Amino acid sequence: MSICYLEKERLFWLDTPHSTYLIGIAAKEGFLGHVYYGQKLSDVSGALSLLRLSEPPFTPDVNDRDRSSFFDAFPFEYSSNGVGDFRESSLRICCTKNGQDAVSLVYKKHEIQKGKGKLIGLPATFGSEEEVTTLVITCEDPVTGIVVELSYSTFEDADAIARSVRIVNGSDDAVYLKKVMSACLDLEARDFDILTLHGSWARERIQERKPLGHGVFSVASLRGESSHQEHPFLALMGKDAGQDRGDVYGFHFVYSGNFLAMAQRSQFDQVRICMGIHPENFCWKLDPGESFQAPEVILVYSSEGLGGMTRSFHDLYRRHLIRSSYLHKNRPVLINNWEATYFDFNAEKLLDIAKESAKLGIEMLVLDDGWFGNRFDDNRSLGDWQVNEEKLQGSLGELVSKVNALGMKFGLWFEPEMISPDSKLYEAHPDWAIQIQGRRACRARNQLVLDVTRGEVREHILAQIFEVLHSANVEYVKWDMNRPLTDLGSANLPADRQGELCHRYVLGMYEMQERLLSEFPNLLLENCSGGGGRFDPGMLYYSPQIWCSDDTDAVERLRIQEGTALVYPLSCMGAHVSVCPNHTVGRSTPFATRGQVALAGTFGYELDVTKLSDEDKVCIPKQIRAYHALNEHIREGRYYRLASSLEKRDFDCFEIVREDEGAALVFATQVLATPNMRSRCIPLQGLCEDAKYRIYEVSLEKEELMEDTENVVSGGILMHAGLILKRPWGDFKTQLLYLERIS
Ligand code: DGJ
Repeated sequence: MSICYLEKERLFWLDTPHSTYLIGIAAKEGFLGHVYYGQKLSDVSGALSLLRLSEPPFTPDVNDRDRSSFFDAFPFEYSSNGVGDFRESSLRICCTKNGQDAVSLVYKKHEIQKGKGKLIGLPATFGSEEEVTTLVITCEDPVTGIVVELSYSTFEDADAIARSVRIVNGSDDAVYLKKVMSACLDLEARDFDILTLHGSWARERIQERKPLGHGVFSVASLRGESSHQEHPFLALMGKDAGQDRGDVYGFHFVYSGNFLAMAQRSQFDQVRICMGIHPENFCWKLDPGESFQAPEVILVYSSEGLGGMTRSFHDLYRRHLIRSSYLHKNRPVLINNWEATYFDFNAEKLLDIAKESAKLGIEMLVLDDGWFGNRFDDNRSLGDWQVNEEKLQGSLGELVSKVNALGMKFGLWFEPEMISPDSKLYEAHPDWAIQIQGRRACRARNQLVLDVTRGEVREHILAQIFEVLHSANVEYVKWDMNRPLTDLGSANLPADRQGELCHRYVLGMYEMQERLLSEFPNLLLENCSGGGGRFDPGMLYYSPQIWCSDDTDAVERLRIQEGTALVYPLSCMGAHVSVCPNHTVGRSTPFATRGQVALAGTFGYELDVTKLSDEDKVCIPKQIRAYHALNEHIREGRYYRLASSLEKRDFDCFEIVREDEGAALVFATQVLATPNMRSRCIPLQGLCEDAKYRIYEVSLEKEELMEDTENVVSGGILMHAGLILKRPWGDFKTQLLYLERIS
């Protein structure tokens, strides 16, 4: 078992393949303290001294006055509130009996089990009894009667720990939970940098690194979704840590709503991390005996820099989070009509696109926004999920049959959580929108948000969606969400439960996705939120792929996909080739470059093939051939970031290694050309030192997919000296190399 309890030392010892996590019980009071997290240890003798229990002026048994200085520095495993630890609290409650909100927890009991239970209603990692071990430590506050179960799961085959928290009201009175963090981690004094993924619409998940100074640093979302702006992720990096060296601690929240991720550096330079549902706009009533399950946080420690952290997240998500049967399959190469037509289409136009696409080898037509109700623009009809047969010149079934007859699959867009004020649904049920009585609710993209906390709302929307999906052979659904939550009021919730709205909304949305997948078990689901506004581990539990960004420009995509791949496997990044000048930035890049950038994701097209030049059109079958030949490697391989266009604007490079196949792919993009320079020399990673590799150039344009460069180089040379890469002529030029192990 990778988790044990050392009775004598009162120490919990958790191991992953390359890390150790230690929790101690402080002798007299029974406080739970964080002892260690880092490099794997084989002997933990004396570890409890790290709790510094005898450090002056801590003399609680002599003089209770000094307890405040103890609380102020003790490394709590789950921090208290209002009793002397002035750093960030993990739990804040309000007792209805006396209105007080202090909590202080002591150890009560623990259990170590094989396997991992489900978090009811929430997405979470999973694994068999052979793969996962779980420790549940129960703590209680003897004064308030609040019971806290801290869960830790370790994975045999991934360097990650999944933490979550369940709160039980063991008192005789109702309590209000005002803050419930899912994880708290107190680390010893270290000078850290902090890395986050910041963004906005069309420029999601851009890496930002800065020093962690004294005080509190946080990233958060209050938008009701995980958001374009901040990502529910942060990493602590040793000052000397880089891509392939140094200590990195990564934290990722498996949740799709409001979140808070914070790092605090104390007066003694200790660092506390807290991550969980944002306490703002959150207040959850717990009646006596009731419990609240907080979502899960994934912790990854890497001694091999960011690259090690990245590969651990990829391994974990591929093996223990994404459930879809499509996970290990090539997804159908799709063409989406959004950028091709926007709202201006009819069946004839769609079929023209489909016919041309089929000829080129494209495998699925996805009909985006605009096929239902009176949806001729984005001012109306959300909530009225009835096919507009006038626009489709017949039924959906007829259109899909015609597309299927071309040998193509068919996919359809929905935005199930939304309601347009100009819709039949709103006319019938204005109270189904989230809004505050007496206040004109903010319209974003001319729409309101449906109150999916209500069972009848979920039922009504799902019934409409199911009817449409049963009426035709729809094999893929794009589930979109195009505005944040505002005007937080539910006509359904009682006054003292309005603070539950945001979390209940997320639970309602999860339930809808679960229901959709059980009704249509073979459906390929792609999540989306105005591009990548809800790209988070929670959504991955439901869909094996998420639309990465509405920005499809190849150059912008390099940094968006780099930030996304920092924690997510490439197999889940929705990426398409679109037209130039690009609709978001107006840039023109070669068709081959757009193809190569999209190959590092799920791959597809977002353009009108009927309007493409012959020169671009002939590239499509070759790109599809490359996708089918290489996708398994890209999807299943190990990812190494070699150069970043974020650091130097001119060059982007990464490598995907398949150790089992003895092969590697090197993706390179010269963003901007520089005059009078010699070839680049790129040290590779993850190869076998003593092996020899034959190097092929992969072409997305030529007749032959792979061209032998007749260059054979040892793994040692490639890793310690580097691969020589000729500089292409011009801007926005890609290169793709395949390395085959030959000895
Ligand atoms: C936002 C998505 O990101 C786009 O791809 C498209 O589906 C539009 N919504 C449709 O309204």
